[in-house]
Amino acid sequence: MTKLIVATSNPGKLGEMQAYLADSNVGNFNWELTLKPEELDVEETGDTFAANACLKASSVALATGNWAIADDSGLQVDALGGAPGVFSARYGKNDAERIARLLRELGDETNRQAQFVCAVAIARPDGSIAVESEGVCRGEILHAPRGDGGFGYDPIFYVKESQLSFAQMTKEQKRSISHRGKAFADLVPQLRDLK
Ligand code: IMP
Repeated sequence: MTKLIVATSNPGKLGEMQAYLADSNVGNFNWELTLKPEELDVEETGDTFAANACLKASSVALATGNWAIADDSGLQVDALGGAPGVFSARYGKNDAERIARLLRELGDETNRQAQFVCAVAIARPDGSIAVESEGVCRGEILHAPRGDGGFGYDPIFYVKESQLSFAQMTKEQKRSISHRGKAFADLVPQLRDLK
């Protein structure tokens, strides 16, 4: 087994990554996923999701001497010039405040187009990046929250093709179309070829 440190202190993300990577243990590695040490904090100073994912994966790999995986994600609203973007998690103190701020800033704007983006990176023990991927999910910002599942901005992100908000979808439905699902779908085949 090759240890793969998940560069997050969120146990929920560990479980999610385990599910996404479950079918990737067919290449040259058998991954054993472990949460990063709590005291090891990496500041997200990059100005793109990809830069932040690489920064987190590299720093945790170097600090622990193991392979490391990191993701960075967020919401980009077209009419707000791509905001909140890499600041999605820092847009308010909690999910309710972040949603309220976004709806306030968007106001009556008729262009509600938006996208969720997720970047994933895996770093080797020497900190170099071995694999990178990115997934995008387009949707629209609702005028008011709809549904009570999911997390973050899910209740105000509506996907026309499904006629549901992310918060109204089952985990499987969301995973099949979400930015994170797409980023991992792109990552897994690359892992099989890793040497
Ligand atoms: P991070 O990737 O952990 O830095 O989180 C970025 C922030 O973007 C989260 O705190 C959420 O507010 C938001 N976000 C990322 N992905 C999703 C999603 O799938 N649904 C809702 N909000 C999300």
